[in-house]
Amino acid sequence: MTDLNPMTDGDVDPAMARPVRSDDCSLDRLTAALERELDGVSPADVDGTRVASLLREYAAGEDSWRRYAAAGDDSYSRNLIWRARDFELLLLCWKSGQASAIHDHGDQNCWMAVLDGALEEEHFSARDGGLKRGRVKTYEAGGVAFIRDEIALHQIRATGGRDGVSLHLYARPIDSCLSFCPETGDATRIEVGYTSVRGTACAEADPEAIRRAWAE
Ligand SMILES: [Fe+2]
Repeated sequence: MTDLNPMTDGDVDPAMARPVRSDDCSLDRLTAALERELDGVSPADVDGTRVASLLREYAAGEDSWRRYAAAGDDSYSRNLIWRARDFELLLLCWKSGQASAIHDHGDQNCWMAVLDGALEEEHFSARDGGLKRGRVKTYEAGGVAFIRDEIALHQIRATGGRDGVSLHLYARPIDSCLSFCPETGDATRIEVGYTSVRGTACAEADPEAIRRAWAE
C-alpha cells in the first residue's frame, strides 16, 4: 500500500506542533500572559519583577501542569509547554536525587518556579581553570529563582528525599548550553532536547524538527 502522506526526515508528529490554547487552562493563560510580557521585547527591557510575579502566582495555586508531568528514569525530564519567538516554557520533573549538570544559560534570562517538592540550586563560578562553589539555596513549592550568566553557573538537584517538579522559563529560548565538568571545569557544548511535547512523548524525535514545527 502506498503511503499518501509519508513522513520525511525532519517531520514530527503533528501532536508535537503548536496547539491551540484554551482559556479554560490556567497554564495556557500563563503562556499567553508571558507572551505579552516577553515577545517582541528586548531582553534589556523585560520587566523581570512582573515575569517572576506571574510565575509565583501560578506556582502558588494552580495544578494544570500535572497533565504534562512525565518523569524520566535515567535523568530529569524536559517537557515542552510552550515556545514562542522570544521565550520557551518547560516543565521539568525530577526524581529524588536527580540533578542537572553544572551549566550556563547562553546569555539568556532563566526563571525557575518550583511546583512540587523541593529543589536545591548551587552556584558555581569559573576560576583559575576550574570551578569555585558558591551559595546553595533550597526552593520549596511556590519559590521562584532567577539566573543569568552574569550571576553564576548553576546546578539543580531534587532534594529532601522527594521528587520535584519545576517550571523553567527561558527568554530567549536556549537550544544549547555549556555543561561543565565538576572536577576539571572543562566545558562541553550540548544540545538540549525534549522528553515530551504537551504530554506526547518524544525523546526519540529531533528537537530541531520540533522547534521548526512550533515556528511555523
Ligand atoms: Fe539552569
